[in-house]
Amino acid sequence: MTTKIYFASILHFSQKTQQPKDDFSYFKDGALVTRNGKIEAIGDAKSLSEQYVEAIPADYRGQLIVPGFIDSHLHFPQTEMLASYGEQLLDWLDNYTFPTEKKFADPEYAAKIADVFLRQLYRHGTTSAMVYSSVHQCAADALFGAAQKNNMLLIAGKVCMDRHCPTWLQDTPEIAQKESAELIERWHGKDRLHYAITPRFAPTSSREQLHALGELAQQYPDVYIQSHLNENLNEIEWVNSLFPDYNGYLDVYDKFNMLRPKSMFGHCIHMQEHEWQRMADSGASIAFCPTSNLFLGSGLFDLVTAEKYNIPVALATDVGAGTTFSMLRTLGEAYKVGQLRGEQLQPLHGFYLMTQGAAVAQDLDDQIGNLNPGTDADFVIIDPHFDELTRLRCEEQSEIKEIIFALSMLADDRAITATYIAGEPVYQANA
Ligand code: GUN
Ligand code: ZN
Repeated sequence: MTTKIYFASILHFSQKTQQPKDDFSYFKDGALVTRNGKIEAIGDAKSLSEQYVEAIPADYRGQLIVPGFIDSHLHFPQTEMLASYGEQLLDWLDNYTFPTEKKFADPEYAAKIADVFLRQLYRHGTTSAMVYSSVHQCAADALFGAAQKNNMLLIAGKVCMDRHCPTWLQDTPEIAQKESAELIERWHGKDRLHYAITPRFAPTSSREQLHALGELAQQYPDVYIQSHLNENLNEIEWVNSLFPDYNGYLDVYDKFNMLRPKSMFGHCIHMQEHEWQRMADSGASIAFCPTSNLFLGSGLFDLVTAEKYNIPVALATDVGAGTTFSMLRTLGEAYKVGQLRGEQLQPLHGFYLMTQGAAVAQDLDDQIGNLNPGTDADFVIIDPHFDELTRLRCEEQSEIKEIIFALSMLADDRAITATYIAGEPVYQANA
């Protein structure tokens, strides 16, 4: 059991807060002590170096340590189709997404892309994610297996869909329930893995399938649930025509018992007043995916109203409609969405949504999202001076919120020096 002490500036949010722009902890001359995969201590370099004289030192002074980023909504089988040109949601699904996801029927291919996918997460500083796999059970197995090898905290699920997509991508209500249950038994609660029941979205599930998945959700009350909601105006019109006897899109998930704490809904751009209220009462959370929403022209997420209703919001890439694996760049785009709405997102507020706020939304803040002693040692080392431009921009005397803002506009994987999961490096820039 080796104790290590990392010297750097350190930023995190130690608690759940409604005031993320003020409630952060920052140690300019800081130290982080890890032992046996966990955080042992965090504080000022001077006092911790005196306290932990035997710890193996790692000197990152001038750089920044933050909690590993959490990406709360993205699609593993879409890794290879980022930046596919030119359409809005429904055509984009038909023309690019479904043909690509077909390849994941092959377990060897799925295992190969699972490794690429995790490498992309780690090189961008992301240590935890809430992930959609494809409809194939073997692809979810490949992803869980790859994450387990890295001791990663991963939430994932097999997509379920039994209509309105090519027949070669359809399961059935019975298969969806059976295969999801088998995956829950195999992976949920094993090491750091969690299962999410994953109906793709209301249009691709029959009522029978939604019923079967709602039954499963009741049988396993502690698993996660994830789906898409109110992303695109044509999609919403379609849902209304498929489910005319429901009180809007959210009501479909609600009536089938899929609205509860640990449910995460992607997008939620075009919400009706009663949907905000119902979402707030249910304890469910929202994944805000700015690069995807801009790329597909879906709309501008209303973070202010979500937070007014006290709905937990987590930032997410939504790869491959999202255009980057970088949560830093995603933060930059979240700011621009705010600009277009006339509501400026404070940089540390956005940073909260990709660390502690996301962990709170997922009920995992006792393990990830912050650097509190006792949590898992998932953290990232960032070099705010990674090139000539950022060396000029991020000066010695810059305030931390200014540095985070500049990184959100200028950085990507070039700023990531190293990424650690459970105290072990999973990515090192110079290795
Ligand atoms: N709605 C249903 N499926 C998808 C998907 O794969 N990506 C996005 N952005 N929206 C969806
Ligand atoms: Zn999505």
